[in-house]
Amino acid sequence: MARALYIHWPFCLKKCPYCDFNSHVRDEVDHAAWQRALIADMRHEAALAGGEPLASIFFGGGTPSLMPPALVDGLLAEAERLWGFADDVEITLEANPSSVEAAAFGDLARAGVNRVSLGLQALDDAALRFLGRLHDVAEGLDALAVAQRHFARVSFDLIYARPNQSVAAWERELERALGFGTGHLSLYQLTIEPNTRFATDVRQGRFDPLDDDPAAELFEVTRALTANAGLPAYEISNHARPNEQSRHNLAYWRYQDCCGIGPGAHGRRGGAATMRHRKPENWLSAVVEHGHGLREETSLSPSTAASEALLMGLRLAEGVPLAEIATRFGIEPARLIDPQRREMLAQLGFIRDEGERLAVTPRGMPVLDAILGELVHPELVAA
Ligand SMILES: C[S@@+](CC[C@H](N)C(=O)[O-])C[C@H]1O[C@@H](n2cnc3c(N)ncnc32)[C@H](O)[C@@H]1O
Ligand code: SF4
Repeated sequence: MARALYIHWPFCLKKCPYCDFNSHVRDEVDHAAWQRALIADMRHEAALAGGEPLASIFFGGGTPSLMPPALVDGLLAEAERLWGFADDVEITLEANPSSVEAAAFGDLARAGVNRVSLGLQALDDAALRFLGRLHDVAEGLDALAVAQRHFARVSFDLIYARPNQSVAAWERELERALGFGTGHLSLYQLTIEPNTRFATDVRQGRFDPLDDDPAAELFEVTRALTANAGLPAYEISNHARPNEQSRHNLAYWRYQDCCGIGPGAHGRRGGAATMRHRKPENWLSAVVEHGHGLREETSLSPSTAASEALLMGLRLAEGVPLAEIATRFGIEPARLIDPQRREMLAQLGFIRDEGERLAVTPRGMPVLDAILGELVHPELVAA
């Protein structure tokens, strides 16, 4: 039974050069056909994982703020009919901060969206041009102001550790960002993803990514400034005031079941991993043909599921409930986490070992990937 629903909208006005998400530019989208198909895909999941009211819905993308509000309204009405909503259901939509999209915020709020995650990406016009964004700072901040008028909860994304970005410049940018008073911020270090335009640019010497040391310094500054402002990191890239965390993403990091519908959406349902057809056209024809967009459903062995739970949960400041995971998947704690490495990493101050619960410390977070590689038992990962 899932209490979280993810809906993927795969279309964007332009492909950003850093982005490897399942996002596509199309001249025309048949909204009526997409509404029918998303509803069919949703019904298929609800039949398999219904029964409990939804605590969260997340429209991710792509650019879900390009969805007509009536389409969002139709999907939410169907989700409520199929699952019912918990009293305080969190309904988030990812939005790009253009004036056209901001004009639809009022209607999206009336459709039931109560939280928006806005892709501001930078508060510097030259950086926005470098990132290939269609908005400038002024337009982005106007959209933020409109969002704050319409939605009780607003978050925005910034990408830092950009080429040549200095500590002082990032401090100024982040201080300004914190000044807007949102309860949540997602602050991502720029990653050069394979098969993106930025990967080609770097290969061809058009720019150099920031080195690891300055990037680590920016990470420290980020943690310090956000904590001072009352929005400490609760996940490696996510910061929130108390009770303002994204409940949907928390469900995912805490390894709770989540239905994922729409192109390329992943889900976890009763010990199985679900994956939808990735390319929009393939997903749409699959739904028309079979009534759902599922491409693969893989039953996960207890050790694979346990290692996923550890890899996800250790991104969180609260860490993982080891004893609970051991019981849930029927695996001894010593097989979950390598005892020797656990002791060594605790002595080095990279992890906080509270017996039943284990967490990566602020000191360990900058080298999280290396720690995960050391910590999660090799037999478990190989299983
Ligand atoms: C699904 S994406 C985008 C949502 C929305 N379409 C937008 O662009 O504003 C979610 C976020 O991931 C971040 N992101 C995507 N690719 C990234 C990369 N290569 N490095 C760092 N952050 C990235 C961006 O901040 C982006 O807003
Ligand atoms: S960053 Fe957002 S707008 Fe840009 S291509 Fe990716 S999903 Fe689309």
